[in-house]
Amino acid sequence: ARPVRIAPSLLAADFARLGEEARAAAAAGADWLHLDIMDGHFVPNISFGPVVVKALRQHASIPFDVHLMISPADPYIPAFAEAGADIISLHPEAGPHLHRSLQSIRALGKKAGVVLNPATPVSAVEHVLDLTDLILVMSVNPGFGGQAFLPSQLVKIATLRAMIDASGREIALQVDGGVTAETAPHCIEAGADVLVAGTAVFGKPDYAAAIAALRGQG
Ligand code: DX5
Ligand code: ZN
Repeated sequence: ARPVRIAPSLLAADFARLGEEARAAAAAGADWLHLDIMDGHFVPNISFGPVVVKALRQHASIPFDVHLMISPADPYIPAFAEAGADIISLHPEAGPHLHRSLQSIRALGKKAGVVLNPATPVSAVEHVLDLTDLILVMSVNPGFGGQAFLPSQLVKIATLRAMIDASGREIALQVDGGVTAETAPHCIEAGADVLVAGTAVFGKPDYAAAIAALRGQG
């Protein structure tokens, strides 16, 4: 079976103790740290920006997976790259030229991701696979943690798994939103190999046990 990586989303952490929370997630076995960037415009919530990402870099050495929910995104790509992002993902709806945005991320030596909202079709990424290192399927509408998983997205995950395998490229397939120990097995079965989880990690008393449960080792 394909190895599954767990990327806890810091959005559900204690924001007064973000450094400690990032350390704790890494110590608990997190593979990546998922950082949700929201601008109050592309999504109806505001989180944090590159200054916070940079400050967190001193607290954890695992890959920083930066999910941009901002529009426009292009002007901020260099700031997130300099802040220490390893992967920068953005939504096709955030700007007019997705291909150019992905090129910009790659030109800075970072991995580039495309995020598909629940209503966004797989065709949005189909013709830019050569510039894509990760595809993120949103299983909730972006903006908030703690929402219910949308089962309608499982067929999209399966379609993308087939598309990625047919491409012969190494592209991670990530799911974000409402991922719990109950919904994770469905995501994995559909072909996802990176699970983002906010509430299902930071909302639990034991992060290591929570991460193990998401891997199906609970
Ligand atoms: C939502 C964010 C998610 C969020 C997930 O817009 O992209 O990463 O933190 O939270 P949970 O896992 O609680 O649904
Ligand atoms: Zn996210």
